[in-house]
Amino acid sequence: MKLVFLGPPGAGKGTIAALAKEYFHIPHISTGELFRSHIKQHTPLGLQVEAILGRGDLVSDDITVEMVRLRLGEADAQAGFILDGFPRTIAQADALKELTALDAVLNFALEEEVIITRLSGRRVCKSTGKIYHLLYNPPKRDGFDDETGELLIQRDDDRPEAIHNRLEVYQRQTYPLIEYYRSRGLLLDIDASGTPEEVFAAMRDALNS
Ligand code: AP5
Repeated sequence: MKLVFLGPPGAGKGTIAALAKEYFHIPHISTGELFRSHIKQHTPLGLQVEAILGRGDLVSDDITVEMVRLRLGEADAQAGFILDGFPRTIAQADALKELTALDAVLNFALEEEVIITRLSGRRVCKSTGKIYHLLYNPPKRDGFDDETGELLIQRDDDRPEAIHNRLEVYQRQTYPLIEYYRSRGLLLDIDASGTPEEVFAAMRDALNS
């Protein structure tokens, strides 16, 4: 199954992908996670993109497409994948078309007010990438990862000014992809306002129908 997860920041793409990858036995490829991993390891790419992610702007298409091309070439991605956060521009979608065919594009839709609540309460474990929410999915021990016991962090781009910019960037550069994929018969709309289990079930139903 070759899937793209589309949707505004904070719609729950990463949360649903964590459930879907276990269910479908396919890798979850998040371009945001790939960039954050480069930043954490202080690679040349990480140094190049750190400020861009902090502001909530998009990394250039050339850099992003090349990173995805390399990742899709790895053995575990041959039978299928969940691409989360890619493509985010028409140019990236055109490039992806040249790399592989897709089975479906899931469009996770959510109102802006809820998005802001979800993003401002998000906490993550830096080493495992596990996603929590202060209200909706709190860790067992306040502030610490359930498995590793590490201190949870707030992403730099979950600060209010970066959230605002990310929403604008989404509207301007990524929103047009909804029509792009709808016109190609690949788009499935998913209401992302329920619990993660409800959203995941809606996604499974949409894929089966
Ligand atoms: P990326 O990491 O992809 O960020 P994003 O798209 O903004 O998405 P998020 O990770 O913020 O949200 P999500 O939808 O995964 O929500 P989550 O599941 O965490 O990208 C980061 C940056 O990298 C970009 O800004 C850009 O700079 C760069 N980049 C990445 N891809 C790029 C590309 N293709 N081109 C150029 N640049 C690129 O959930 C959010 C919160 O809500 C969590 O706390 C969670 O616990 C909670 N939650 C989730 N679902 C539910 C639910 N159903 N009910 C209640 N709470 C929920």
